[in-house]
Order: sequence, then structure tokens, then C-alpha cells
Amino acid sequence: MASPKVAVYTLGCKVNQNETEAMAGLFKKAGYEEVDFHQEADVYIINTCSVTHLADRKSRQMIRRAIKTNPDALVAVTGCYAQTAPGEVLNIPGVDLIVGTSERNRIVELVNEARLAEAPVNAVKDIMKISDFEEIAEEEAEPHRVRAYLKIQEGCNRYCSYCIIPYSRGPIRSRPIENVVNAAQRLVEMGYKEIVLTGIHTGAYGTESGNADLAVLIRRLLEIEDLKRLRISSIDPNEVNEELLDLMAGSEVLCRHLHIPLQSGDDRVLERMNRVYTTDDYENLVGEIRTRIPGIAITSDIMVGFPGETEEEFQHTLVFTEKIGFSALHVFKYSPRRGTPAAGFPKQVDWKIKEERSKELISLGRRLSAKYAETNIGKVFSVLVEQETKIKDAFFWEGHTDNYLKVVFPFEKDLRGSFTKVFLGRYSDGVVYGQHVSID
Ligand code: 5AD
Repeated sequence: MASPKVAVYTLGCKVNQNETEAMAGLFKKAGYEEVDFHQEADVYIINTCSVTHLADRKSRQMIRRAIKTNPDALVAVTGCYAQTAPGEVLNIPGVDLIVGTSERNRIVELVNEARLAEAPVNAVKDIMKISDFEEIAEEEAEPHRVRAYLKIQEGCNRYCSYCIIPYSRGPIRSRPIENVVNAAQRLVEMGYKEIVLTGIHTGAYGTESGNADLAVLIRRLLEIEDLKRLRISSIDPNEVNEELLDLMAGSEVLCRHLHIPLQSGDDRVLERMNRVYTTDDYENLVGEIRTRIPGIAITSDIMVGFPGETEEEFQHTLVFTEKIGFSALHVFKYSPRRGTPAAGFPKQVDWKIKEERSKELISLGRRLSAKYAETNIGKVFSVLVEQETKIKDAFFWEGHTDNYLKVVFPFEKDLRGSFTKVFLGRYSDGVVYGQHVSID
């Protein structure tokens, strides 16, 4: 008999990507074959996102697409949208199982239960009552990439006034340090060259018990032999400490890249957002980071159209963004999320204004990315080759430098997974075009 087929789709963040891969791994271990999401499968897993209303909408679209591709398939919906709006998900005819942001380690079992059930199964739990980190054995996943996302932490206690994630992910809980180190060790043994530490609030690692923090964890991970690259996915301004900078300054393995969400370049807006730093704090921090780690890539998330954001406040964001000179920006249009304080704030901003502000900030972000890339042109960098890519009918190898420049270069032989010295030639449209120098 042919093996049953599972197809997965991920929306949103790197934590979701990690969890989807881990779930796919569990299905494969149970004898399933993984197929492309656009193909006919017996089971579809849609791992949803709810960070904005657009993410909700996209999640619903992908659920409908799975149902359409194979109306007889078992369709299971999981993730943040499933957790925060189970009713909306169950209202979509054809959904058979809904699992929130817990119990994903039981996904295969839950799918089997749902198969026998008469009606759609709702397995969403009260996430606020969960206090343990749920391990999903991601090491079961087959290595099909060069870079692995390793989840070290779950949940958030910060409650920024705009954000739904503390409600969808629950309180902070960290993966025990020995388990993280063991998981990283296994990923390295499986052949992964780069590990990206991910979490919902990565910088809060270890703080609920006080037994460890992110720097302590990283110090341990850097002891792993054959770990070639370690990257931190995202960290809040007040969590970048001396110890972390010491590690980054002293290690070839810990990548010179920090994603530090700014959210706004105006102090009044930051206060209304319940962020706990000022633009001065942010600027001083970036100054210190750059002194300690020359050439580092600093990237950020910025939101436009937060309730009450005036033209003047938005201008402050533009000026501040330019002053900091990020190497890349993710721009978000504020989206009111049910149950969050900001959704009830006065002076909600028109969508059209959000779109205009977003366009302006995105275009500034592009200019800053080009400027940052230019400072690296003419030098030779070690590039970790991730995949082959086609640009205007020509094939290139594609990878990233440690400071997160996307580099493409032509070469005849398969270089996937290798570290290659590349001369950076020119920057165009978010990509650096280079020439192969030698293999490390
Ligand atoms: N609307 C728009 N963007 C949001 N983000 C979080 N909540 C919202 C919201 N309600 C953005 C923040 C965060 C990123 C992951 O998503 O910029 O850093």
C-alpha cells in the first residue's frame, strides 16, 4: 500500500517555520510521505499567523486552498490564528481539526482521532494556563536545508499595546538549556551549517527561572564543535547586554547581525505602544554595538499608522530611521487586534494614510539597504551557500554572508551547504552579485 501523504503550509514567523518542520517530521516518522502543498495529499496542516488582520486573511485563504485541492483530505489548522479565533476557523466548511499553539507534539495522534470523529475536533487549550516548554522533536525532520531554526523559548509577557501574540502564545517558558544544547548538537551532526535561535521573545530566554539568560545559552552553544554559524533571530533593545556583545566580538561563529525591533522613531508613540525604551536609549545602544562590532548588520521592524500617529510623529520615525541607518527594514501597517488595548485607542489612522507612510518607509529602507551593501562591495566574504536560484534566465548560487547580505554568484559545481569565498561585485535590487574566489 502506498504511504499516506501529508502537505504542510507555514504563515508568519520563524518559530512557525520551525514548528511546521517539526510536525512534518512527526508525520514522516509515522510513515507519511511529505508532498508539496499544491499537490493532492491525505492530510493538510496549515500553521497560521495572526499578527495582523492580513495574516488572518491569508491564513483563511490557505485553509480554503487546501480544502479545494482535495475535498476528501483531513484538514488540520494550527498556530496563532487557530488559537485566537477558533470559532472563525471552525466556521470554514471542510476544516476537520483545530489545534492551537500547544499539543503540536501530539499532532499525528490528534489527526487520527479527528479522522474517526463525526464532527470537526476542537483541540485548542487555554494557553494562559500552560507553564512548560513543549518539546517537539525537530531533530526527526529530514535535513533539506542548510540553515536550521532552533526554538529555544515560547511565549511573551511584555504586552505591547498593539500585540496579540502574548494572548496566542501564552506566558514565557524556556526550553531547558541542556535540551537546547543537545538539539543543536544533533542538528550539527545532521549536517546543518547554520543554526538560528528563535523564540516568541527570544531575549527573555531563561529569565522566568533566573537560571540562565541568552548569553549563557550562547556561550554553551559556541562550545559545540563543528557548529559553523549561530545567529540570533530577534532581540529587544534592552536585552542586548555587555556579555552578548563580548561573545559576538570574540567569536567567528556568532554572526554579526542583530534584528532589534524599533517599532517607532517617536518617543510619544513608543510610550503609547508600551515599549520600554526611548529613541535616545536605542541610539546609544546602536552606537555601542557598532563600536564593539564593526560592520555589524542591524535590521529592524517598524510599524506605521499606530493609533494617534500624527504626520509629525511619522516624520520623526523617518528621520530617526535614516539616522540609525538600518541594513534592512520590515515595515508593518498597524492592524487593530481584538482584545489588545491599542485596538480601542482613539484616533485610529486611515488605511490610505498607513499605505502612504508604509510606502515611504519601505523606500527609505531600500535606500538604506543599498547604502549598507555598498560599504561591503569590493571585499571578499565567506558565503554559506543555501540554494540555486534563477535571475533573468541565468543560474546562480545563493547564500548569505555572516552580516546577512544576500549574495549570488555563478559557479559550475554544486556548492550547496559549503562555505565559499566570494568577491562582492555590485548591489542591485536587494542582492549582491559576486564572483567565486575559493571554497573554504
Ligand atoms: N499590527 C501591525 N504590525 C504588528 N506587529 C505586531 N503586532 C502588530 C499589529 N497589531 C509587528 C511588529 C513586530 C512584528 C513581528 O509584527 O512590528 O515586531
